[in-house]
Amino acid sequence: NDSESEKEEVMEEKQGSTALEQVVEAAKHITVRHEPRLDEDDDELKSALLRANRVGDGLVDGERKPFYVTVKRKPGIQQARMQLPVCAEEQTIMEAINNNAVVIICGETGSGKTTQVPQFLYEAGYSHPDSDNPGLIGITQPRRVAAVSMSKRVAMELGLTEHEVSYQIRYDATVSPKTRVKFMTDGVLLRELAQDFLLTKYSAIVIDEAHERSLNTDILIGVVSRVLRLRAELSKEDQEKVKPLRVIIMSATLRVSDFTLNKTLFDKPPPVLKVDARQYPVSVHFNKRTPDIDHVTEAFKKIRKIHTRLPAGGILVFLTGQNEISVLCKKLRKKFPPLSPKASARQRAVEKEKEALEEKKEVVTAKNAEVEAEDLELGEGEIDKNVDLEDFDFDEDTEDEEGFTDEEEEQEPDAPLHVLPLYSLLPTAAQLRVFDDPPPGTRLCVVATNVAETSLTIPGVKYVVDCGKVKERRYDSTTGVQSFEIGWTSKASADQRAGRAGRTGPGHCYRLFSSAVFDNEFEQFSTPEINRMPIEGVVLSMKSMNIDTVTNFPFPTPPEREHMAKAERLLAYLGAIDSDTKRVTELGRTMAMFPLSPRFSKMLLIGQQHDCLPYVIAIVSALSVGDPFIKDYHLDDARPGDSDDGGSDNEDVARREVKEIRREEVAEKERRKLARRMYYKVQTKHAGLDPTSDILKLLNVVGAYEFAGATEKFCEDNFLRPKAMDEIHKLRGQLTNLITTNLPGVDVLVDPRMCPPTPIQLRALRQILAAGFIDSVALRADLASAGAAGKGRKFKSTRGVPYRVMWSDEDAYIHPGSVLYHDSPPEMVVYQEVFKASRVWLKGE
Ligand code: CDP
Ligand code: MG
Repeated sequence: NDSESEKEEVMEEKQGSTALEQVVEAAKHITVRHEPRLDEDDDELKSALLRANRVGDGLVDGERKPFYVTVKRKPGIQQARMQLPVCAEEQTIMEAINNNAVVIICGETGSGKTTQVPQFLYEAGYSHPDSDNPGLIGITQPRRVAAVSMSKRVAMELGLTEHEVSYQIRYDATVSPKTRVKFMTDGVLLRELAQDFLLTKYSAIVIDEAHERSLNTDILIGVVSRVLRLRAELSKEDQEKVKPLRVIIMSATLRVSDFTLNKTLFDKPPPVLKVDARQYPVSVHFNKRTPDIDHVTEAFKKIRKIHTRLPAGGILVFLTGQNEISVLCKKLRKKFPPLSPKASARQRAVEKEKEALEEKKEVVTAKNAEVEAEDLELGEGEIDKNVDLEDFDFDEDTEDEEGFTDEEEEQEPDAPLHVLPLYSLLPTAAQLRVFDDPPPGTRLCVVATNVAETSLTIPGVKYVVDCGKVKERRYDSTTGVQSFEIGWTSKASADQRAGRAGRTGPGHCYRLFSSAVFDNEFEQFSTPEINRMPIEGVVLSMKSMNIDTVTNFPFPTPPEREHMAKAERLLAYLGAIDSDTKRVTELGRTMAMFPLSPRFSKMLLIGQQHDCLPYVIAIVSALSVGDPFIKDYHLDDARPGDSDDGGSDNEDVARREVKEIRREEVAEKERRKLARRMYYKVQTKHAGLDPTSDILKLLNVVGAYEFAGATEKFCEDNFLRPKAMDEIHKLRGQLTNLITTNLPGVDVLVDPRMCPPTPIQLRALRQILAAGFIDSVALRADLASAGAAGKGRKFKSTRGVPYRVMWSDEDAYIHPGSVLYHDSPPEMVVYQEVFKASRVWLKGE
């Protein structure tokens, strides 16, 4: 493809000139003033300076008077900080920030950017009411996990409360009037911009993880460049009121040419400060060949070898999603149970008895039989003679020695393995456990998605096991078909992953693929997200900020023309923009107020008829949060999530997993049965609905949950994810608030325990849903084409019955996870998502 390779060439050209340009630019813009460097511990000196400045003896630089806030940190914390490469550059960084509106900081993951730069700002007086920069310090993150955990960390290091160093993510916030430092997802700041385009609340905005090129981060950088320009155009008087704004863009890689060389973005290229991280050498081991079997099994074998043969040091494993992570964690815990000394003695006894038992029964040779002691549940010293051997799992262990050159026998490891999962849908408290020291005498093993690639640095990692894959959202802007595909990651991100092993000492990275695959099939860099997902949400946000000609917007990487056109078409359908002028309508402006996809905002705004609003709020909350059901279908259950690496796995992987743990399948069947019973119960007892819609099923579940008092127990009993249900609950509250405070005259019946909707309301709800999914209607294929064979046929079930959607010629099918799947196929359905896996699925009818 010519234009593709052309684009690549241009990219490379840009790359080539960047390094030099960066150095030149950096040198041009940083003026080094020779001030004595403040000793962190010299509180007296700092207070003296503070007092001197309070008296107000003029401005240094004619701009900003120096201001120092004394922070007394715990000695341990202070010591750890001083090890961080970023701290060695504090003075350079703060000078660059004080003298430039925009500064770019590049530094390896773990060098201290996220935790330290906000503290530098804080100590330099930013956010202090008496300083020249009294506004908040805002830090944006593409991932919720990072926003929450980093705010906690910084609060702890500064010795401040969670109300002073706070976070705000869509479902949760600790912000208060006392807040000085605020961590948030990039989406949260984007929505604030719609209300306060000049960002008057802030004195500094740190846009973190810019290298990830998340959709919202890209847009933020574009918008903020306009904010700066507008602030500069204010009258002197107004400028005095608004105070200057500092923007700091932080990246874990040096690839920042899309920001520095983009002439539409910043008037003069911002200085790039490079922080030299102390990175120890990491030996990278490729597999000799890329194995056919799945990477979960491969990872398991590798970890087992590391744990049984290699010296102490944490292991960090990169997999693609939650399902894989759960499977691997389970396998690891089974193989290396976290045992107390007493328990391990007991296990040895059990194993001995077990061997004796096996010999007696002579079923299999004891040599290759491995009994799972944990399933026996025996008391100390006591042996259950009735144990049926069929309860035992036999581990057919016939692996090769790929990747490890030495052929020694595996030994009993000295230390138990401390296995921790890490992915975005995990409850926050469980996520934060990766930062705690592992129990003494154990080896840490974190199994993570790429959230651990650059957002979070896990201490003590010496070995990295990298499957080389990533789950990425793909989006076809012409058909609207989305897919989550597991594909090779980029060379840049594989190198980032490897780098995680060299933070505290020399390390090793085991890549579960061959160097040939790496050389030939890995892209250099990952594609920015803007070309991988629907953009109607951001287009509407921009339009509501009066950025009308979105085509002229300074995108770091502009989206394709067709992509933009499709977003505008949908917005026009929804009535959010005028179809001729493409300008935002009054309705669109109101829609942009909600932290929701435009479809959902539209539903809210037309949801007032027949007192439907509480139900619509519940529905859009549930749809925005995502599937609350613990999976009862092992098919492609992936779904889009905001600023997140959430979602589950695609069909192939799910299938492999099913094979992987046969016993799980039995449990799964039970769970499925129970889940159906639950819906039935919920439907009859609570709402009396026919299960003829996935979306109304969601409403049932939310209703039943609230009715039961919104407890975790209800979730447990009914196979719901408590975190999701809690988020739905919070979002409902938030939306209800937003509506009552911003839409005068609109009353929401505030009834936390919704009464079931009446038949009239149900009809209205269906209409409201159709209005939101106006472009997502599918017609049964036999009706779509006149004269087609089997027209008007009677169908037993929807299985294999093709549908036609508006944007694509490809046949689509109702997803097996839909409540419609087992009924006769309706002539027409409204669907939430089209997904491509083995075939095109319509989901959420
Ligand atoms: O942002 P960057 O990747 O440059 O580094 P950072 O996230 O600021 O992390 C700096 C150091 O703080 C790392 O060594 C982390 O392991 C550590 N850290 C921690 O121990 N606990 C946290 N909750 C966050 C960071
Ligand atoms: Mg960071």
